[in-house]
Order: sequence, then structure tokens, then C-alpha cells
Amino acid sequence: MTEAVAIPAHRRTIALVGLMGVGKSTVGRRLARRLSLPFSDADVEIEAAAGMTVSDIFSKLGEPEFRAGEARVIKRLLEGPRMVLATGGGAMLNPDTREALKARAVTVWMRAGLDVVAQRVQRRDTRPLLRGRDPLEALTALAEARYPVYATADLTVDVAGGAHAQAVEALVEALEAYWAETGA
Ligand code: S3P
Repeated sequence: MTEAVAIPAHRRTIALVGLMGVGKSTVGRRLARRLSLPFSDADVEIEAAAGMTVSDIFSKLGEPEFRAGEARVIKRLLEGPRMVLATGGGAMLNPDTREALKARAVTVWMRAGLDVVAQRVQRRDTRPLLRGRDPLEALTALAEARYPVYATADLTVDVAGGAHAQAVEALVEALEAYWAETGA
């Protein structure tokens, strides 16, 4: 059996993790362009694989089925070429996904104030975990459960309230420091 060789940091996919509404998809797309890398959004890939929207997967098949699909899709994306990958806010909670991310990606926790995030998520009604709930309350509960897990990411970048361009710069700066530190 051949031994698995760790992928060097500068050749790894950059996986953005963090709460919904923090800008993983929008900022991730810009970051990819900035780094001349392809971009994928795990939720979009899950929808393509299932032929259904995330909302429909939750309501028709249930959250466990969504999570299983999410784990499969992220593993598949991590097997492919290097990219910037926006993960769904719950992806890192799955131990298998977390392990795959640890092995193959540089994980970056995009963190922002909950008040900012709550403002942003009110603009769209596509998130089943927030439907019919007060966004700030729901996000506060999610943050309590998830922040300890997000905190295990390789990098934490505060993107609080700034414009997307600023968030991209903050991410690039943190990544460049990380690559330098890890010998890239
Ligand atoms: C979820 C976040 C969503 C999506 C699904 C569940 C979560 O993705 O995967 O609604 O558990 O936080 P975004 O973080 O891209 O909104």
C-alpha cells in the first residue's frame, strides 16, 4: 500500500467555512478570480447532483439526506483540481467532511459579527434553517454550536461588515502569510 503524502499548503484547495450569510460564495468567487483559480459552491453542486434546490432537499428528503449529499459532493470536489470552494455553513460539522477538508484543503473560517450576518440573510429566503425564525436568534444559536468547530480551521479571517473587496484582501493577506509560514 502506498502511503498518503500530505498535499503542500500552496497546492491545496482553499475551503471557506463559516456561518451562512458571511459571504463565502460572493467573496469566494472574487477570491478565486484574484488567485486565478476555479471556484465551486458546494450548495450549487449539491443542487445540481440532486436536481433539486437546497430548500426542496430539506423539505422533501430531510436534513440528514442533505448532509449525506453534502458530504459526498465536498469529498468529490476535494478529489478534483485545486480551487476556491465555498462550503455550506453546516458542512464542517460532519466529521467525515471535516476529515476530508483537513487532509486536502486549507480551511479558512470567515467570521463576521452576527448583527451584520443577520442583516444579510434577511435579503433572501432560501435558507431552511432560518425560515420562520428570528434571524439573529437563530444565528446566535448556530454560532454557539458551531464556532468551536469553525475555530479548528487552519485560518480565521475577520470580514466584519466590510465591503467584499476588503474581505478578499483580508483573505489574500492571511493566505499569503500562511503559505510563507508553511514554506510555499
Ligand atoms: C446551511 C447553510 C447553507 C446550506 C443549507 C444549510 C447550514 O449554506 O448549505 O441551507 O447548515 O448552515 P450557506 O452557508 O452557503 O448559506
